[in-house]
Amino acid sequence: MTETKNQQLAYAVAGAVPIRLHANENPYALPPAIWQEIEQELATLELNRYPDKAMRLFYQALAEHTGFPPEMLLAGNGLEEIILLLLVALGRARQVILPIPTFFVYNELATALGLSVVEVPLLAESWQLDLPCILQVAGQEEGLIIICRPNNPTGNLFRRQDILRLLTETKLTVVVDEAYYGFCEDTMLPDLANHERLVVLRTFSKTYGLAGIRLGYLVAQAQVVEAVDRVRPVYNVNALTLTIGRIALRRERELLARLPAIIAERERLATELATIPGVEVYPSAANFLLVKLPAAATPIWQELREAGIHVRQLGVKQPNLLRISVGQQQENEKFLSILRRALAE
Ligand SMILES: Cc1ncc(COP(=O)(O)O)c(C=O)c1O
Repeated sequence: MTETKNQQLAYAVAGAVPIRLHANENPYALPPAIWQEIEQELATLELNRYPDKAMRLFYQALAEHTGFPPEMLLAGNGLEEIILLLLVALGRARQVILPIPTFFVYNELATALGLSVVEVPLLAESWQLDLPCILQVAGQEEGLIIICRPNNPTGNLFRRQDILRLLTETKLTVVVDEAYYGFCEDTMLPDLANHERLVVLRTFSKTYGLAGIRLGYLVAQAQVVEAVDRVRPVYNVNALTLTIGRIALRRERELLARLPAIIAERERLATELATIPGVEVYPSAANFLLVKLPAAATPIWQELREAGIHVRQLGVKQPNLLRISVGQQQENEKFLSILRRALAE
């Protein structure tokens, strides 16, 4: 198994399959010992049966892990499903405020649901929340604001103090998406004790490197969990995922042992990028970097793509920006060499 996975990295670096620096994935495959445990446990499942719709074993493990009781937890088929369920349960007849740029899925889902979305741009360059503007838009109406912390795609952490002000000075339900929590270890989970309208989101995709199993969860007061649970499909998380999720919690130490390498590689990549003339790198608390190029990003993005390297463009409003996920060192090196060549042309 390990050999095949090492081969996959070699193929990617050799250009036979794309180097994936566009989806903010964890670049490391699961440790073989954890794979073995997964194989053994999956073999015991009765797949002719529906999974436990109350997800008891998983919630019990998650409760022990997070310190929050099962009534405050809700699991979903990835955070994307949880975001959809939150919008369905809490977004109707209320405004949904989105500081932008942010994770594009929030707007895509809210718009598809016909909800009333108000976008508030972040402050230029510092990428912090424009608090006066958000407070004005929010007024004293009930509504939803989704805040990504660290923010995708800018990579920075919004000030905790600003989020606490939104909780105390408005009537908004404040959803804090901590998908990239593991790369900075700054969390708003302790603030749940004092704030009824705070909702925190976590995923197994990034820090645990388990994007393929699709597992995320929400932590909030029981009444918020109940409201979201009412619109949850009965068997939304499958038996294989629930089992692997419990194993991941059990073996968390080994999964987290890979993070220092990713963080060190992020810093190395940022330093290397900053040596390229005209290139600016924004500080990141996540597993990706936002980079400003001296020219339009599209031709560079195209050249990288032709060389088999996938990165993310931010779109027409931010024409010079690229978002690059931190890959393994060999992948990042290949990216750097193509970028240097493209910018020198
Ligand atoms: C901020 C943010 N939230 C959620 C997700 C998706 O999480 P999941 O894989 O659990 O659906 C992503 C994926 O890139 C993300 O960037």
